[in-house]
Amino acid sequence: MRIITPHYILLEDRVVTNLSVAYDKTIKKIAPYEELLDEFPDAKVTSLRENSLLMPGLINAHVHIEFSGNKTELSYGDFISWLYSVIENREDLINGCSKECMNKAIDQMLRSGITTFGAISSHAMDLEACENAKQNVVFFNELIGSQAAAADALYGDFIARLDSSKAVKREGFYPAVAIHSPYSVHPILVKKALELVKNENLQLTAHFMESQAERDWLDKSSGDFKDFFEQLLKQSNAICDSDEFLSYFDDHKALFTHATKTNEKELDSISKNNQTIIHCPISNRLLGNGALDIKTLNEKNIRWILATDGLSSNYKLDLFEEMKVALFMHTDQPLLTLANQLLKSVTIDAADALGLNTGEIKEGKNADMIVLDLDVEPNEELPIHIILHRYNISKVIINGEDAL
Ligand code: BEZ
Ligand code: FE2
Repeated sequence: MRIITPHYILLEDRVVTNLSVAYDKTIKKIAPYEELLDEFPDAKVTSLRENSLLMPGLINAHVHIEFSGNKTELSYGDFISWLYSVIENREDLINGCSKECMNKAIDQMLRSGITTFGAISSHAMDLEACENAKQNVVFFNELIGSQAAAADALYGDFIARLDSSKAVKREGFYPAVAIHSPYSVHPILVKKALELVKNENLQLTAHFMESQAERDWLDKSSGDFKDFFEQLLKQSNAICDSDEFLSYFDDHKALFTHATKTNEKELDSISKNNQTIIHCPISNRLLGNGALDIKTLNEKNIRWILATDGLSSNYKLDLFEEMKVALFMHTDQPLLTLANQLLKSVTIDAADALGLNTGEIKEGKNADMIVLDLDVEPNEELPIHIILHRYNISKVIINGEDAL
């Protein structure tokens, strides 16, 4: 048993002081220090400095570790130009990201307080790095392929990768499934994979309605994707429209990433199914995809959580940076309300969306916690200050173990 004595603790809806936390793998008790010491006299005690704040570790639900090699190779500003640049640089990007490069990305997340991440894995090149990561990992094996002729081979490769991830036996590692997108995965494949997701009760995610090109292609088989599909994939029509695609996800607690170009009907389906939207504001800005309409999502009671996306469309894997950008991007939202919502989106809401027993400093939750060194006593605007000031992170605890 361990006891940690921070100056302040960020609970779900308030900040408390003069309380300590006893934990092993999970949080056992939150109470005054003397009371914990009486109950757990043999506990190892960590005393923290003045103005230290204990808060839940952050959860980054969407990142592409395999694409961590990019810095300046990819073209920013327009989604289709970016996609062409990904295809052109694919080999270099993948081969250029050694184990060391992937470990560096994972370490960057750890140092920025990320204790759980959702890795979208295209090729399983990141499996070993994710297996050895200190963080909890939801390992989303991605299925892609719009051509029916290649469906069997692609599905076989996907199952082999999924099986390899299932063979990983370590605490905090969860094999899961990603469907790349409505335009890039043939309905035959979507249906097969979702059957498996249901039978095996796996977490499920998909990119959805990220760009105007996707909107135009799925609605009318026209727009900026037309040349792309005609030239590279010899397709003149979309394989599926968005309503059909979403219908396959009915009754799945799925997470849809981006959703910047969704329409009313799609949002109603997402709301009805209690699905979650993953919001990656920096990626959306860099790829020319606009800003997510979080006002409408809030009105429709759709949960949204914040994530970084990969270094293929971001310059860091840091949820504090991501929250800051979101705070400045969504100017139609009241500042403090938004700051509060952002903090929840990377802790308690992300944990719930991913079905994980974490994201909160609460008895019974997994002991995933970080310590921020505040420089003053917190006031009622603490969520804004946490986002603006990027306080030093002096400790990271994952499943009860010191990870930093
Ligand atoms: C495909 O594999 O069919 C595909 C990949 C990326 C974009 C579109 C389609
Ligand atoms: Fe992504």
